[in-house]
Amino acid sequence: MKIDIITLFPNMFTGFLNESIIGRAIKENKVEINTINLRDFTKEKHGHVDDTPFGGGAGMILMCQPVFDCINSIRTSDSMVIMMTPQGCQFKQSIAKELTLKNHLILLCGHYEGFDERIRSIVDLELSIGDYVLTGGEIPAMAITDSIVRLLDGVIEDDSHEYDSYSNWMLEHPQYTKPRNYNGLEVPEVLCNGNHKEIEKYKLKESLRRTYLRRPDLLENHKLSDEEKLILDGIIKEEKC
Ligand SMILES: C[S@@+](CC[C@H](N)C(=O)[O-])C[C@H]1O[C@@H](n2cnc3c(N)ncnc32)[C@H](O)[C@@H]1O
Repeated sequence: MKIDIITLFPNMFTGFLNESIIGRAIKENKVEINTINLRDFTKEKHGHVDDTPFGGGAGMILMCQPVFDCINSIRTSDSMVIMMTPQGCQFKQSIAKELTLKNHLILLCGHYEGFDERIRSIVDLELSIGDYVLTGGEIPAMAITDSIVRLLDGVIEDDSHEYDSYSNWMLEHPQYTKPRNYNGLEVPEVLCNGNHKEIEKYKLKESLRRTYLRRPDLLENHKLSDEEKLILDGIIKEEKC
């Protein structure tokens, strides 16, 4: 997979592209990620990429010309152009998973007041990372890139994301590491006894409990299996006591 990120601030990506799992995935050629400086595409004097809005109003708007020229110079029939915008559809794990199937993603970062509306005509998808407004699309582009790259084959061990929250609709179960007793705080016995069937039952039950207590909306959008229904009934009784 190749990811091209169009930005006015490529330096913001230096740490992101060199550290940790993303840095390793790039070094091991699991993904190619490039930052492209939008300013290199402007035909305006003094390198301007933005101007004041027609009709008045605060702030500056990114102009069509540099964005159209930049996207048209890198897109192919295999590309998907994604605009970072708080007005886009809400980014989710399921979208990250779908995007792993694409060969070429172009992530377009806005800045200032946002984009000239006509830029939307050359965009395939608009994504928001939440109902709040950031100064630019760089942090959303990093968040989206990170969540896609960690799902690519061989980037992390497959079973590390098998139980991740949202991977199979639920929140992940609670996890523990050594020591078994930390200042009187104990690890649940079932996780230490080596009985894999019991451990799997515990993980499912505690995932359901977490989801019921913290994100009941996820339960409403999922058709529970008979086993899940039975376990959830038990959890509801336990939580009422
Ligand atoms: C200050 S924001 C512009 C917001 C715009 N005036 C609006 O109200 O929709 C500047 C840029 O940051 C990015 N951005 C800000 N918040 C975002 C979010 N929640 N999700 C994705 N991108 C965001 C977008 O690229 C946006 O063009």
